Amino acid sequence: MSEAQPILRLDEATIKFGGLTAVNKVSFELNRGDIFGLIGPNGAGKTTCFNLITGVYKPTSGEIYFQGQPIGGLAPNKIATRGICRTFQNIRLFSALSSVENVMIGAHLRHKVPLVGALMLSAKSVAETSALREHAMHLLELVNLADYANHRSADMSYGKQRRLEIARALATDPELILLDEPAAGMNPQEKEELLYTVRRIRDELNKTVLVIEHDMRFVMGLCERIVVLDHGEEIAQGPPDAIRNNPKVIEAYLGEPA
Ligand SMILES: Nc1ncnc2c1ncn2[C@@H]1O[C@H](COP(=O)(O)OP(=O)(O)OP(=O)(O)O)[C@@H](O)[C@H]1O
Ligand SMILES: [Mg+2]
Repeated sequence: MSEAQPILRLDEATIKFGGLTAVNKVSFELNRGDIFGLIGPNGAGKTTCFNLITGVYKPTSGEIYFQGQPIGGLAPNKIATRGICRTFQNIRLFSALSSVENVMIGAHLRHKVPLVGALMLSAKSVAETSALREHAMHLLELVNLADYANHRSADMSYGKQRRLEIARALATDPELILLDEPAAGMNPQEKEELLYTVRRIRDELNKTVLVIEHDMRFVMGLCERIVVLDHGEEIAQGPPDAIRNNPKVIEAYLGEPA
């Protein structure tokens, strides 16, 4: 594989739901190590793009390439195994389990330790389980939650739950992580911590990050490049400064809360 090959490439990716074209010929590419933003007003097609990339939906036309291979229409578990993971717009954690257990469950997808064994410490899986736990603790440290390893996720603040979801997604050891509105509902301090966390994911774990976010200050401060969707169409692409001053982007956001 050549160095220059993008890790992810959407080539005119399109999906129609009945008469609605939710994503229309969208093309962009991420290089390894990018922190890339996907923005646009409500209903623009951002989450649907994530659903295409992760195999929830099959593109009506166009193709998606991951590490040079076409993945459009592969089953979600196949795509996850290849190295793409995501978080969701709404929190999806096992609320009765502790933080570290939530992360260990995330790791299960890649590490093939039987889930029951992993949690029950059966004799057979005890070695794998302690390695899993160690890895989970490392990820909790990365998202600044090491002190909360044994807290029930339901008892933690919203901002912490969102960071826990990121740790859980990272437990699959993906190459590419997709974050759907990770800063939504966070206070300014939580956003600041999240910004720092995402940078560490790229800088220390060498992951590539694609992030959907409505908070412009957050996106502009975090991402090196941004693609903008509006009504399923790509209306702009470029570095934050160019996006901020792009008349089409300003028009698309007119009347939208910042
Ligand atoms: N399964 C589906 N069936 C029909 N329409 C859908 C489906 N999924 C998404 N849509 C429609 O596609 C459009 C894009 O939705 P999407 O959730 O991708 O928007 P978004 O950019 O993520 O918006 P938001 O910022 O509000 O999360 C919307 O009009 C939505 O109603
Ligand atoms: Mg969405």
